[in-house]
Amino acid sequence: MHNPALAACGIDAQYIRVQVPVGRVAEALRTFVQQGFRGINVTIPHKFEALDAVDVIDPLAQVLGAVNTVAIDEDGQLHGYNTDGPGFLRSVKEAFGVEVRDLRVLILGAGGGAGRAVAVQCALENCQHLVLLNRTRTKVEQLAGEIETLGTTPTTIVDWTDESLLAVLSEVDLIVNGTSLGMKVDDAPLLPAGALTDKHLVFDMVYRPGGQLTSLGEAAREAGARYVDGATLLLHQGAISFEHWFQRPAPLDAMRAGLASALIA
Ligand SMILES: NC(=O)c1ccc[n+]([C@@H]2O[C@H](COP(=O)([O-])OP(=O)(O)OC[C@H]3O[C@@H](n4cnc5c(N)ncnc54)[C@H](OP(=O)(O)O)[C@@H]3O)[C@@H](O)[C@H]2O)c1
Repeated sequence: MHNPALAACGIDAQYIRVQVPVGRVAEALRTFVQQGFRGINVTIPHKFEALDAVDVIDPLAQVLGAVNTVAIDEDGQLHGYNTDGPGFLRSVKEAFGVEVRDLRVLILGAGGGAGRAVAVQCALENCQHLVLLNRTRTKVEQLAGEIETLGTTPTTIVDWTDESLLAVLSEVDLIVNGTSLGMKVDDAPLLPAGALTDKHLVFDMVYRPGGQLTSLGEAAREAGARYVDGATLLLHQGAISFEHWFQRPAPLDAMRAGLASALIA
């Protein structure tokens, strides 16, 4: 999506993939500055190391403890951002036409990197209610403590059992899958059968090649619930990266078309 964006804006640059060994992120970023790079996306497993390697950390990235976008300014200073939360807000608005602050939100996998970013963003938005679930419960217990300091959102931790999920689903509007479940065809279903209704909005951070539905997507379709997969988040967090790099609006249509053809390929 970034190369079509660069072409659409007439920017003489290329977006390339570089593999960096663990423990050498700071060295790699300095090399990129010397080589005239304008910006960088950082992915697993480097998001935490990148936080320590940049010169200026955006407050949201600081709260999240992870950097996934680096912009290089004219003086070669490295500015670190996290675009997952802001990309989530834009995606929910585009997909469902609503603001996160007006919703009661349930996050499955809130203890992972992406789920945590969404949870923090929901708390900063003062959403109506936040329900956190994670296979490893201790991770969300710590997160809930941190979220208390960010806003006024009432936050509940729920055990990952069919009974507690069924009980809490009638009290939420938006369900977010922040787990990695759904990437593989034979992944276990996330929710008990029949748990969704046509009142639910379902936001899957996972996407599958060619736009194939995840099992959560299939469950949403059967229930008549509105559903969006992770390709929308990928687009919007990428657009926000582009804006940090070039200080101009991202050419969303070109990026959307580029992403669609890459996912089909
Ligand atoms: N669309 C996008 O732009 C975008 C952006 C970011 C991430 N993502 C996607 O979001 C997913 C999570 O990414 P991440 O960076 O947050 O990964 P991560 O930090 O490794 O977190 C993985 C999460 O999945 C949970 N999990 C894994 N296997 C599970 C299972 N069998 N049952 C229940 N929970 C399970 C983990 O629970 P434990 O804590 O118990 O291990 C944890 O909460 C990935 O699929 C990634 O591709 C998409």
